[in-house]
Amino acid sequence: MAAQSNTGHGGRRCHVLLFPLPYQGHINPMFQLAGLLHARGFAITVFHTHYNAPDPVRHPHYRFVPVPDGMSGPAPVAILDVVAHIIAMGRACEAAFRDRLAAVLEEYSRDAVACLVADTHLLPVFEVARTLSVPTLALRTGSAASCACFLAYPMLFEKGYLPVQGIGAPRSFDRCIVESQRDMPVPELPPYRVRDLVDVGEDHLGLERELIARAVAAMKLSSGVILNTFDALERRELERLRRDLAMPVFDIGPLHKFSPAGESSSLLRQDRTCLDWLDAWPLESVLYVSFGSLACVSARDLAETAWGIAASGVPFLWAVRPGLVHGSSADDPDHRHLPNGFEAATRGRGMVVAWAPQEEVLRHRAVGGFWTHGGWNSTAESVCEGVPMLCCPCFGDQMGNARYVGHVWRVGFEVGGELERGSVEAAIRRLMADTDGAEMRARAGELKKAAAECTRKGGSSCLAIDKLVAHMITM
Ligand code: UDX
Repeated sequence: MAAQSNTGHGGRRCHVLLFPLPYQGHINPMFQLAGLLHARGFAITVFHTHYNAPDPVRHPHYRFVPVPDGMSGPAPVAILDVVAHIIAMGRACEAAFRDRLAAVLEEYSRDAVACLVADTHLLPVFEVARTLSVPTLALRTGSAASCACFLAYPMLFEKGYLPVQGIGAPRSFDRCIVESQRDMPVPELPPYRVRDLVDVGEDHLGLERELIARAVAAMKLSSGVILNTFDALERRELERLRRDLAMPVFDIGPLHKFSPAGESSSLLRQDRTCLDWLDAWPLESVLYVSFGSLACVSARDLAETAWGIAASGVPFLWAVRPGLVHGSSADDPDHRHLPNGFEAATRGRGMVVAWAPQEEVLRHRAVGGFWTHGGWNSTAESVCEGVPMLCCPCFGDQMGNARYVGHVWRVGFEVGGELERGSVEAAIRRLMADTDGAEMRARAGELKKAAAECTRKGGSSCLAIDKLVAHMITM
């Protein structure tokens, strides 16, 4: 898309500054937003950490400003290490970001700097911007529902919904009581049940509460929140958010439909040979399997999933990224850890890649189902292509996303409980071959149409983008 010229006050060039959180599920929407704003004529400057730094060569139209993050050592793998890493990285960047931002503002002083858009998980970035009088907008990369859940976090503790009981509890703990508590509805946040709330267990509550409280503080320091969702998908949740936040909420998703991320913001090399492989399969016959960029699975769960896929007889494309299995390293050459005999059992009807061009895979006519961890980007990408989902949520907002998939949009279902090859096989057959699955696919097709409507000229997301651009220019 050619960039229109956008000028701020007095006809000066108008800059937008961006600061993504350096994880794949957060980098993608930020770069999609960058593409969209650049197409609207803004000059883009991206501040970034050294950790997972973007490659400027892939984005020749943007300016990049590295911010030393002082972080060393291996990349975090366990989700709690990731949470700790996010908090530590934000703090470690603060002083260097202050210097870099001040220098950039001085350099751009003849132009107009509209605002800084940062990921909600980078609170110190918002604080620094405020001290330098730079207005901010917060990019929240999850759904509107999960954002509302963040805002409701203090209430969830006050009323005793959280912490979810029983995670990490001793064996003597009564499992029936635990399960019935986890199934309790949360009437303040329908359709969530206790088990769908963001929770990583009692042992680590401090860290998790801090992460969420900081994200909420970042939103409250901003003059608006940008969400990668759209009106037809989350109308009620967006209304609630607008009421609770009392600031503009821009529902400009699905961002990848305005500005695909593709290879340019991918941290791993996408294996595009799978697109040719998909060409050979009939319409909606292939199951795509991926657990996103952060979730890890045990070797046992990977094996049960593999044998369930094998027994289903369904053709599949599986993205098994390096480091996916607990305890394995992202540099391990034999990263796949698939069980012996699996390849022989599925020869001719399966392909395994380390990392797929997911947006294109989901758009491919041969793909008829998605076995997903339910990260928000994956969920939104699947919804927009009318692909029904089998959700196997792992942490954070993924349980809540699975709840919406199964009970609100009814475009898939959660594979609950301990993974067993028999239940995996049954779930795949239900999605790919039963009338039940066909109904989910039909509803997914309706959502695909609704997403397309939103992104059309005059559609809700297009209008929200116009409002965002107008808001930025007047900030
Ligand atoms: C995490 C959380 O799970 C998510 O809910 C939160 O909103 C962001 O952080 P992640 O685990 O990375 O995200 O999952 P997801 O949100 O689905 O993002 C993964 C991204 O990587 C997607 O944009 C997907 O298209 C891309 N991807 C994934 C690939 O390009 N290739 C692959 O093989 C797998």
